[in-house]
Amino acid sequence: MTLTIADEIRERALAELAGAGSRAELDEWAIRYLGRERGELSRLLKTIPTLAPAERKPFGESINAIKKALEAAQGVRAAEVRSQELGQRLLEDRVDVTLPARGTEPGHEHLVYRARDEMIETFRLLGFDVAEGPELEDEWHNFSALNTPEDHPSRDAQDTFYLQGGGLLRTQTSSVQIRYMEHHQPPIRIVAPGRVYRPDTITPRHYPLFHQIEGLLVDENVTFGDLKGTLSAFARRTFGQSRKVRFRPSFFPFTEPSAEMDVECIFCGGSGCRVCSHSGWIEMGGCGMVDPSVLTNVGIDPERYTGFAFGMGIDRTAMIRYQVPDIRLLWENDLRFLRQF
Ligand code: DAH
Repeated sequence: MTLTIADEIRERALAELAGAGSRAELDEWAIRYLGRERGELSRLLKTIPTLAPAERKPFGESINAIKKALEAAQGVRAAEVRSQELGQRLLEDRVDVTLPARGTEPGHEHLVYRARDEMIETFRLLGFDVAEGPELEDEWHNFSALNTPEDHPSRDAQDTFYLQGGGLLRTQTSSVQIRYMEHHQPPIRIVAPGRVYRPDTITPRHYPLFHQIEGLLVDENVTFGDLKGTLSAFARRTFGQSRKVRFRPSFFPFTEPSAEMDVECIFCGGSGCRVCSHSGWIEMGGCGMVDPSVLTNVGIDPERYTGFAFGMGIDRTAMIRYQVPDIRLLWENDLRFLRQF
């Protein structure tokens, strides 16, 4: 009769095990039937002392056999449930491999800074260091020390942003020449790239903020030939070995003599096109021999030292290099434009 109870428990346990569909249900099942304290089999074992002595041993053995059988069945069912659960999860997490990939879009350097870095690299190869100066300047560094007369039109409020309470936004990187020479004695060989500001009306070729790269070399026995050689080497490396350059007489307050440097148009090769306004030449910037009074202003002896300086537009160079027809395109941050490069 007690054996019948044990058999009944086994049948029930196996039936329920077959219906357990998750790990949680399996755990509950195991506690219910195989639990050490209150599992049904344990409870049956606890009745042994109430049995007739002769029945005790076979009863205990049969309970243990049932326990082993249930444990074995539990192992099999657990494996089934695990693989069912895995199959379910794979189904739910299924990836639609036909969807278009999201992809990543690497950014890139802005055209103006790319042009700037190329120019710096070329001057580094020619032996120049890089110097920097503040964009917020004073009249001494931006004008007076550069030999610019008090009544020079470039000092006019129409050509310079003056700040309330004094100071101005530098109109040219030439101010860095002064700052550098105030703290360094020759030999000096630097380029100074940076932002400059002028209250220009915005047009395809003018923007109130633009970039220049300044050059300054001061040493004993520096001649105009050194200036021409240096800038010609720069132009050849930037625009091609056979590119012609020319120097036209010009005027700047801080150089004497002064010149403008032009390169043969890289688009038409000198025959004339829209980019070079049909002149065959593209203006690169100003240059000249440092005026002796500028050297005196910063405490460098002009009897012993001479030097040359130059200033070129970086935005203009980028526009020529990458054929950008309108300077405003550089700063509108329109991705359709920027992605082209
Ligand atoms: N600072 C001048 C400008 O903004 C450019 C320039 C001309 C710089 C001649 C120089 C130079 O160093 O020697 O127009």
